[in-house]
Amino acid sequence: MTRKVHIKTYGCQMNVYDSQRMADVLRPHGFVETDAPDGADLVILNTCHIREKAAEKVYSEVGRLRALKEDEAKNGRQMMIAVAGCVAQAEGAEMMRRAPVIDLVFGPQTYHRLPALVDEALRQRAERTSARVLDTDFPVEAKFDHLPGDLGARGPSAFLTVQEGCDKFCTFCVVPYTRGAEFSRPVADIVDEARRMAAAGVRDITLLGQNVNAYHGALDSGGSATLGELIHEVAAIDEIARIRYTTSHPRDMDDSLIAAHRDIPACMPYLHLPVQSGSDRILDAMNRKHTAERYFEIIDALRSARPDIALSSDFIVGFPGEDDSDFEATLALIERVNYAQAYSFKYSPRPGTPASVSEDQVPEAVKSERLARLQDLLNTQQHNFNAASIGQTVDVLLERPGRRAGQLLGRSPYMQAVHVDVHEAVTNGDYTLDEAQGTNYDSLIGRLMPVRIVAAGPNSISGVPLANEAQH
Ligand code: 5AD
Ligand code: SF4
Repeated sequence: MTRKVHIKTYGCQMNVYDSQRMADVLRPHGFVETDAPDGADLVILNTCHIREKAAEKVYSEVGRLRALKEDEAKNGRQMMIAVAGCVAQAEGAEMMRRAPVIDLVFGPQTYHRLPALVDEALRQRAERTSARVLDTDFPVEAKFDHLPGDLGARGPSAFLTVQEGCDKFCTFCVVPYTRGAEFSRPVADIVDEARRMAAAGVRDITLLGQNVNAYHGALDSGGSATLGELIHEVAAIDEIARIRYTTSHPRDMDDSLIAAHRDIPACMPYLHLPVQSGSDRILDAMNRKHTAERYFEIIDALRSARPDIALSSDFIVGFPGEDDSDFEATLALIERVNYAQAYSFKYSPRPGTPASVSEDQVPEAVKSERLARLQDLLNTQQHNFNAASIGQTVDVLLERPGRRAGQLLGRSPYMQAVHVDVHEAVTNGDYTLDEAQGTNYDSLIGRLMPVRIVAAGPNSISGVPLANEAQH
């Protein structure tokens, strides 16, 4: 019997990976994925709890689904609504009370049990009017041991979770509470999954972890590997042309990882290394366990190893107690590092975290004003970084159809989105379409091409492929 599942993903890349794994878990049980909730037997909301309004967003989505579920019921069809992810972990029981239409709640560490949870909900529904199944345990090791080896389609670039959870307890952050304690998957499991991905056409892998550079997974030969060593192992798979990793913590930036950027061609010259603030006083209050100076030392070491490395960060403005001089220190740090891109947020008090009960909350208007100034600076840096690409040739992995006909979208080694005009290159015979893959330009997806950059915008660059068939 074929059943349809629709999975809606919120938040970070790890949720994207988890959603794909949920589909992998359900597939052998007859579930096929559908890209809309209409007509689905099971709808899963894979939620994020990192910043404000997370739960509200889920409630309003559940409200929309309730209307759909009622319509379906009128036509004699049963739709099951499941809430997964970090909001489920943090507020699952409360959600079930507030929204009885939710049939099933499960956390980020229990989705390997999904088929059994769905069966249980169905069984309960058969016996009673409503089903109520809640599973928010933390058996993290069990999850990876029970996920299936068979993977669904991934496209040319894919996420692969290598580490999960966090023991750092930054005072603003919910992650240690929603994802649990730090855990690293064994090297052999990861390499096996990367090989399966390679066989399925993946060329670019992003290794994921809440604290990915704290990775210390077991080796078959005994002992454990660092992230730098893991990257060596994954880079040994021929088809894997590009490796990235996220998210890193400055405290765990060790020499083997910095050396990987120098020694491994597949290790891309791009690093997302959140600093959050440039003020030592605030970094201390955030429990980040490093200073601004230490961050600069790491950046210098990275740039010595790989001079062209592009840098990215996360920033929080308006953390409790942040005054003008703290904020100026953050702007000064940004000036000094010069980022290729970055993410920035107003501080949002998260229930249960130490900073949320601080007396020194910063007024909303001050947060907004600081965020605007910070984003102005970051946008200028990002635009300049993109503009500096004009006239250069960069390798682009083509990942998906572009906005216009004859255009495909890919990424540069520096994570820039690149619009590539393939039409002309194909018309003048520089590139030939692979007939076996279909005769439209999409058949070039998955190829790595040298592209000469001719234009740059704030969020992307664009260019034309150079004739170099040998590059494939
Ligand atoms: N308020 C604002 N931003 C936050 N982040 C995490 N917790 C909070 C919070 N309570 C940001 C941090 C982190 C990113 C994933 O989200 O910058 O690096
Ligand atoms: Fe949250 Fe800090 Fe852990 Fe990152 S390192 S997940 S910000 S507690």
